Formats: sequence, structure tokens, C-alpha cells
Amino acid sequence: MAQIIDGKKISTELKLELKDKVAKYKKEGIEITLAVIQVGNDKASSVYVGNKKKACEFIGIRSLAYELDENTTQEELLSLIKELNQREDVNGILVQLPLPKHIDEDMVIETIDAKKDVDGFHPMSVGALSIGKKGFISCTPYGIIELLKRSNIEIDGKECVVVGRSNIVGKPMSMLLLRENATVTTAHSHTKDLKEVCKRADILVVAIGKPKFINSEYVKEGAVVIDVGIHRNEDNKLCGDVDYDDVYPHVSAITPVPGGVGPMTIAMLMKNCVNAVEIQK
Ligand code: GUN
Repeated sequence: MAQIIDGKKISTELKLELKDKVAKYKKEGIEITLAVIQVGNDKASSVYVGNKKKACEFIGIRSLAYELDENTTQEELLSLIKELNQREDVNGILVQLPLPKHIDEDMVIETIDAKKDVDGFHPMSVGALSIGKKGFISCTPYGIIELLKRSNIEIDGKECVVVGRSNIVGKPMSMLLLRENATVTTAHSHTKDLKEVCKRADILVVAIGKPKFINSEYVKEGAVVIDVGIHRNEDNKLCGDVDYDDVYPHVSAITPVPGGVGPMTIAMLMKNCVNAVEIQK
């Protein structure tokens, strides 16, 4: 029977550990504060931001919410970020993406002080990861490493294939697996013989944004499959990038959707907020 990697359970364990750590910091007089900025009122973003605030409350992190109007100018947003960069009582700054079209996302990300970049999106954070220096790590791939480790799945020396090369998931995922001493292949939409490449994987991480794209023809017997996708199918049910029912009989471990990778992302954001204290020392 394949192991079903329970992201809900693992993220709860992690959040409880972080809650303890935050309580210890409080006893030493250290309070952690996260500033969350949302521009406009995109429905999905409001749900994510709400969940981030709830997680902060649970763990004991103070959150400052900045809900800005859709028509906020780039200058106004950048000046708020610069003000938060200066504030000693703010440890983390998160600007919820996507931003309205008139705002340059790269410019916004680069304006956040890299020492407060709890999303791990700043070029300094990305660079630090690639050369093995201390810095913030993008939450979803960081969460996947945590899922593998806490499920006792060995990464060292394993053949890993990451399908997808986004800046937020695919690329940092490959860097993190490499840091754990895996042999890593990054596959993408131009990869020839994707099935054959995926079939080499002991650990297959799928982040391509296509519902149920990966079926058993892409998976080696006994592989570990990590599904980053989340979609709603015709019946309004959630599904991932992996055809779970087709793949399940062939794997040794797999993440479900929902309840796999998803719950880890916010837990790792909380971990980054706690890590901020060390990074800022
Ligand atoms: N939008 C969707 N996911 C994320 C995330 O992890 N961070 C930010 N800032 N925006 C997002």
C-alpha cells in the first residue's frame, strides 16, 4: 500500500512547533511581526491573505494588514514598502500577488528589503539559495522538502525530476533538491520525451498547472509523487496535476489534492517569519 503523505497533519505539527518557538521568543522579549499588503480585492487573494492572518494568530505572530485600493499607484505601494523596510518592529513583508496590471511586480519584489522577504521571491533570496547561503526560501518548494523529510523519504542520491520551471516553484524546487544531494532534472513544456524523463524519477515533483496531466505512463514503479497543482474539475471537485487514481497503485508514496502540498505553503511562510529573527541578527 502506498503511503499517502498527509500535508494537513504535517503542517499542523510544524505550526505547533513554531507556536512553541514564538512563545519562547516572546519570553526573551522578541515579538515577530508580519506585514501583509493586498492591492485590490481579488477573491482568491482575499482568501489566501485571510488564511495567512489566521495562521499568524494561531502561532502568535503579530500581523499588520494593509488593504489598498485597486487604483493605488506604484509610487504609493513602493513608498509603503520602503516605510516598512525601515521599521524595526516589522520582521516580514509580504505583497500578495498578482498585482493590478499597472504595477510592475518585479519592481515591487525588488523593493522589499531582502532581510524581510518572507516569500523568498527577491533576487537576493533566490541567489542565496543557489549558492547555499542563509536566506529566505520560497514557501511551496520549502514545504515539499519538509514533507519528504518528515515522511522519512530519503532525498540524498535520488533521481529527482521536477516538471515545471516557474520562479516560485519549479526553479527553487530543483535548487533545494540539489542542495539535498539529489540528482535533479528540470523538465518543462519543451522537454522531449517527457514520459521517459519522468519515468527515471525516484521522486517526481509536478508543477505544470494542467489538471490530471500526469498518469501512470509517466511514473516508475515505486516512485514518490508530489503534486503541486490544484484545480477544480467538471464536477467542481478539487484535483491536482496528477491523475491520482491512475497513479496511486504504482507509487510508494504520494501527496493527495487537497491535503498534500497546499497546507504546507502557509506553514512554511510562518517558518520563514520565525527564521527572520535569525536572518536579521
Ligand atoms: N499569490 C499566490 N501565491 C502567493 C505567494 O505564495 N505569495 C504571494 N506574495 N502571493 C501569492
